[in-house]
Amino acid sequence: MKAGVIGVGHYVPEQVVTNFDLEKRMDTSDEWIRTRTGIEERRIAPDHIDTSDMGLEAAKKAMSDAGISGEDLDLILVATVTPDQPFPSVACMLQEKLGAKKAAAMDLSAACAGFMYGVITASQFIETGAYQNILVVGVEKLSKIVDWEDRNTAVLFGDGAGAVVMGPVSEGKGVLSFELGADGTGGQYLYQDKFVVMNGREVFKFAVRQMGESSVNVIEKAGLNKDDVDFLIPHQANMRIMESARERLGLPIEKMSTTVKSYGNTSSASIPISISEAVEKGQIKDGDVVVMVGFGGGLTWGAIAVRWGK
Ligand code: UT7
Repeated sequence: MKAGVIGVGHYVPEQVVTNFDLEKRMDTSDEWIRTRTGIEERRIAPDHIDTSDMGLEAAKKAMSDAGISGEDLDLILVATVTPDQPFPSVACMLQEKLGAKKAAAMDLSAACAGFMYGVITASQFIETGAYQNILVVGVEKLSKIVDWEDRNTAVLFGDGAGAVVMGPVSEGKGVLSFELGADGTGGQYLYQDKFVVMNGREVFKFAVRQMGESSVNVIEKAGLNKDDVDFLIPHQANMRIMESARERLGLPIEKMSTTVKSYGNTSSASIPISISEAVEKGQIKDGDVVVMVGFGGGLTWGAIAVRWGK
């Protein structure tokens, strides 16, 4: 049994905050943010929209795309570091709202690599035949843990949600290979105290190395060459980090997702938002080889190579 993506969806809040808006609030500039990160604007959720609300919207779209209802779900995995509260989990809140009566549900914490951890966990349950339909959501309301006085971090992050439904797919399609990893010795470089605390340079060095290595590893494990890759979806943290992964694979710019421009770094939501937008725009087609690669606090990382389609 092969596991693949059978439905996609995303949701971002309406409010757009541009770099120029941030210039008015703190000592920064559009020029600095754009040249150092590639970010032009981000979305920020209002007080009354919490993490579960955004996750629910993305989940509904992914389920409609997959043509399934809540009762069809066997498991709900929500990757987030900004849950509405420590418990009940966001996954349990979605389980109720989606009427997913038979689904098990849990949140998963692997920071920006959380969605990769979720997808790879889901694929194992499907490949063993234990479960059929699994909802994997990546969602963050980072605006509630960002220190809006700290220009080192405030300009980087945004809110949003992306979701996929995973299920069994036909021979030759689905997840071809994966890699997951963690290095707790780097925990000091990116963590939440009250707010997000980050050593940007250390995370940058780690990210450049890891994104390139993990992408190459999953391509090799799948028995493919770099030339076989049709589309790359790197975690959308910083355009310069993403570019290094793209160059390592020798791909032209149009074969890489660049949603970071419009949404900033949405942590575990960045990859599923990018998948959903790429499908919408026709950048990913049936039979394409798609590589997804993420890294984050922990430190954590994960990558998969997938042949798209059911
Ligand atoms: O999902 C994972 C999360 N994190 C990441 O992926 C972050 C990885 N790291 C990065 O993306 C980059 O390190 C940053 C974008 C955070 C910073 O870029 P950089 O090229 O590494 O800049 P830097 O840290 O070397 O800082 C250069 C200067 C500093 O000033 P001094 O000390 O040289 O005078 C900063 O204080 O830029 C200053 N600076 C800013 N200036 C204007 C830092 N933030 C800002 C800002 N506006 N928002």
